[in-house]
Amino acid sequence: MSTDGDVAVDVDVPVKKEKLIIFDTTLRDGEQSPGATLNIEEKLEIARQLSRLGVDVCEAGFPIASPGDFEAVRRIAQEVGPLTEGRKSGQPMVIAGLARANELDIDRAYEAVKVAPRHRLHTFLATSDIHLKHKLKIDREGCVDQVIKAVSYAKSKCDDVEFSPEDAGRSDPEFLTVVLAEAIKAGATTLNIPDTVGYTTPEEFGWLMKYLIENTPGAENVVWSTHCHNDLGLATANTLAGVQNGARQVEVTINGIGERAGNTSLEEIVMAVHTRPQNFAVESDIDTTQIMRTSRMVSAYTGIPVQPNKAIVGSNAFAHEAGIHQDGMLKHHTTYEIMRPETIGLTESALVLGKHSGRHAFRRHLEAMGYDDLSKEELNQVFDRFKRVADKKKVVSDADIEAIITDEFYQPKEIWKLNGVTVSCGDKVKATATVSLTDPNGDEITDAAIGTGPVDAVYKAINRIVNVPNILTEFIVQAVTEGIDALGEVTIRIQPENGEDYETNLQTGQQVIRTYSGHGASTDIIVASARAYMSALNKMLTERQEQAATVRQKSTETG
Ligand code: KIV
Ligand code: ZN
Repeated sequence: MSTDGDVAVDVDVPVKKEKLIIFDTTLRDGEQSPGATLNIEEKLEIARQLSRLGVDVCEAGFPIASPGDFEAVRRIAQEVGPLTEGRKSGQPMVIAGLARANELDIDRAYEAVKVAPRHRLHTFLATSDIHLKHKLKIDREGCVDQVIKAVSYAKSKCDDVEFSPEDAGRSDPEFLTVVLAEAIKAGATTLNIPDTVGYTTPEEFGWLMKYLIENTPGAENVVWSTHCHNDLGLATANTLAGVQNGARQVEVTINGIGERAGNTSLEEIVMAVHTRPQNFAVESDIDTTQIMRTSRMVSAYTGIPVQPNKAIVGSNAFAHEAGIHQDGMLKHHTTYEIMRPETIGLTESALVLGKHSGRHAFRRHLEAMGYDDLSKEELNQVFDRFKRVADKKKVVSDADIEAIITDEFYQPKEIWKLNGVTVSCGDKVKATATVSLTDPNGDEITDAAIGTGPVDAVYKAINRIVNVPNILTEFIVQAVTEGIDALGEVTIRIQPENGEDYETNLQTGQQVIRTYSGHGASTDIIVASARAYMSALNKMLTERQEQAATVRQKSTETG
């Protein structure tokens, strides 16, 4: 290892690198995280950001799952599919749709993705004896037949076909070579090896990848891919072992979100390959400076906060608390830092930003944080908010700016608008809140309520005006930075009280009540709580409007 004056770098990096295809499944497997449901506009925005980040393949959803899922994938294919701006590869993202191994699913997925200039069908069927026996109730022969039929059918519609043997991590490796050889013959161009239940260890997963590539006839004609779940906390290690043993595509999600313990996280794989290049014969086209921005957006829209010690994107990932570390950092940052914060879109000059900072300096700062495409109006909006925060806080850090951007931009359509909140509370009085809102017709309405505490009083006052019965299922307050003057970020979840909104859990097929998340930030946590509640209510109402529009469109189509 040596230092190049910037970061600690590894020497003896192989000169010729192969491309590592980044397949992002935040909008499909990630969205299967409990309570992470996104509406169409949010999916579109995330897809646009994934394109800016440099993702090669975006799995936009599971079109057969619901009319809403279909419409989201179709619009992503149409609106994000053609984009090339800011992409190192110069090529648009491939938009993929997931389909079980049957014609109905494949037809639906194809209808949704076909408008994208580059599109892919991803079909899957379980191959482990556990799944064949208990879930699918078919034998191995039946499994091979179904794979041949499904892949051939997908190929008859689309050149780019990916096949995944679900639960490959617990499947018989020899049987897998039989299934995969047939998938290749039927036209698959990518073979993805899922460790669906996060069961394998890095040695096993690396071995499996190597064994399959060496023993599957026709292996050299396809791209091999990893898809690891994190049940044992090994998803990143397993994925990297797969890459070291021949995989050239990795399936990942932003912040590692996904079913149960989640999927392999995009940022961990990209930064591992970037920071330790001598260990990997591959490189990706990801613009690493967009990582932080993408992480914040996904966290805001899904309502899943990032744990502070999360590798790469956690709020402590670049913090140095211990005195001995701070001392080392002052002498030379390479003592305790293996990556530079600016590589992922964090800057170091945060300390100089205060209420006297001008618009120009602020814009330059935002650009260094990866926000280089804001319109003049958007810039003014963030700048105004920044000034208001800077009036209350001496120093505005990158984390504060990220929180401001999240609060201003990553919000649903504002059907109801919060104008103001006044609260009186304490240990000797009943908490009382007065709230003023603007209704969907533009009229201002004010009401008041008493609650068990200030947040309860605010929520009750809002409920009196908006009148959408719901249950608060989660309430999280986080300080964005240390210090008594820190911005507080509130994330909440609500469910409709009448159980009116349902969604299908794709794994179990069961109907579950929908959950809506909301978030808000302010130096006053009661105001942040009110903003978060309005955000969740507006998300619920937007979703109802979208559903009604989809139903209307469907009935017009069917006459
Ligand atoms: O985990 C899994 O097996 C999947 C497949 C659909 C690829 O998500
Ligand atoms: Zn998965």
